[in-house]
Amino acid sequence: MGITRSVIRGVGAYLPSQIMTNDDVAKIVDTNDDWITERTGIKSRHIAANGELTSDLGIAAAKQALIRAGIDPIDIDLVICATATPDRTFPSTSVRIQHSLGITKGAAFDIQAVCSGFIYALATADNFLRSGQSRQALVIGAETFSRILDWTDRKTCVLFGDGAGAVVLEAQSQSNTRDDRGILASKLRSDGRYENMLYVDGGPSSTMTVGQLRMKGREVFRHAIQNISDIIEETLVMSGYTIPEIDLFIPHQANVRILDGMAKKLGIKNEKIIKTLHHHGNTSAASIPLALNQAFQEDRLKKGDVILMEAMGGGFTWGAVLARW
Ligand code: ACO
Repeated sequence: MGITRSVIRGVGAYLPSQIMTNDDVAKIVDTNDDWITERTGIKSRHIAANGELTSDLGIAAAKQALIRAGIDPIDIDLVICATATPDRTFPSTSVRIQHSLGITKGAAFDIQAVCSGFIYALATADNFLRSGQSRQALVIGAETFSRILDWTDRKTCVLFGDGAGAVVLEAQSQSNTRDDRGILASKLRSDGRYENMLYVDGGPSSTMTVGQLRMKGREVFRHAIQNISDIIEETLVMSGYTIPEIDLFIPHQANVRILDGMAKKLGIKNEKIIKTLHHHGNTSAASIPLALNQAFQEDRLKKGDVILMEAMGGGFTWGAVLARW
């Protein structure tokens, strides 16, 4: 008997034109290119222009994904934007993206799981598609983290950047065999005991301000490798796949040392991991679709490839999605 799966029809991305190198950051805080490169792998990040909003970044990425998918925006009946830096507290950034693309049917909403946001959004859209509630979904990760950074804190401001990525998902009937395309498994986790490891010190209900990002970097680092490794293993067990069977790993791009630690712990070959953080830093919910887009543009994604996407972020939240391209 067949099964409905969410097939990725197209991917797109957008990075603001303004590039800020490590040397540029060193003009603002007491840091240097060597320290940032050695501890994080980051060389530069993109910064949204004045007046360029998270939705603008998301719209640009979404348009590219729709063109590549060959799908008319008016056929989209679900828009989910993962973001921790929405244009406004409400309405959601998703409805602005929906409106800008001329979509008037279906539903649009935001998901807030910080760096895990894209994984949360992908898993949510997959459930809508498999249940028959939606047919074609636009899933976006878009962030303007430069706006919530404390540009006097060298421990955090060097790490993040702005950007957006998007995928178009379509519900397709598959044969329910190992050759199925689309999302094969997803697993989401959170544990609020760690809410003060990585957070923003403001919000409408607490301070009536937006606030700035605060982080206990060492703690985040330690938990990241463990949580990411655990969720990858759980997702593989759920789906019956093993590490060597994965063609490409598309991780959240936070720190190259986190990626190296994960690879070592799980025995993943370095050449199977897409790494893009050197040129855009940590773009939170945007980083996985940005990496997916780079893999697509470099022709590293072949039809039938098995890909594993994973992330961890503030909350803590973490998760993984396994899919066949
Ligand atoms: N430039 C120069 N020196 C710096 C800088 C900087 N930008 N930042 C910190 N330092 C100094 C510190 O002041 C400290 O100096 P001291 O020993 O004289 O006090 C020294 O460097 C070491 O500082 P640590 O914070 O202990 O450095 P660490 O090796 O832990 O690296 C880092 C910091 C890069 C933030 C690391 O902890 C990390 O990557 N953590 C994960 C954070 C992360 O990726 N967060 C993203 C969101 S969560 C996620 O996406 C997974």
